[in-house]
Amino acid sequence: MRRGGLTEAEFENMFFLFAVAGNETLRNGIPGGLLTLLEHPAEFDRLRADPVLLDSAIEEMLRFWPLVMHFRRTATRDLTLGGRRIRAGEKVVVYHASANRDPAVFPDPDRFDIARTPNDHVSFGFGPHFCLGAHLARAQLRSVFRELLSWDVELVGTPRRLVSNFQNGLKHLPVRLRRRTSNR
Ligand code: HEM
Repeated sequence: MRRGGLTEAEFENMFFLFAVAGNETLRNGIPGGLLTLLEHPAEFDRLRADPVLLDSAIEEMLRFWPLVMHFRRTATRDLTLGGRRIRAGEKVVVYHASANRDPAVFPDPDRFDIARTPNDHVSFGFGPHFCLGAHLARAQLRSVFRELLSWDVELVGTPRRLVSNFQNGLKHLPVRLRRRTSNR
């Protein structure tokens, strides 16, 4: 059976993709972004002092902690990329994690800078399959981290990472939260 331009199976797959793509990513992105801030306390303080940096801070968290580490593509034509010959039909793995630290694109790429501009990270991919949920993801990250700015956050244990070469995930991030009395 068809619904609009999609077969029933394609339609069901699309909802499955929404559920997985929208869930796994943020489930890892929120603690990943928080851990990055905790590991860079001067930048966390800077964000608290100047919350107008929230949008660029979120882009930097996404660059620094890419949630989807790689995707595979199939070359549709012969080409040379970065000096390597790739033939039509060959599989190519695109490492977002690596592209996000490319020194030719990002000055001092290993520095976490919440005001980094421009910040052309590829954590949402690129091209025709650019993440459909990027705006929703950014809105969710904004609302969580805006709220977290009113809390003191303390790491009270060892973070436990997800064992995966695909998702950059955290299984466990033990933190203690205490409501801040003022915006110091
Ligand atoms: C921070 C959170 C997220 C990250 C880092 C992320 C990352 C990605 C990446 C890397 C791709 C592949 C892009 C490519 O192939 O070039 C993608 C595709 C996609 N994402 Fe997200 N995503 C996030 C959140 C979401 C949310 C909240 C939704 C929807 C509820 C969503 C829905 C999708 C869909 C449907 C695609 C497939 C688009 C297509 O193939 O045309 N994502 N995402």
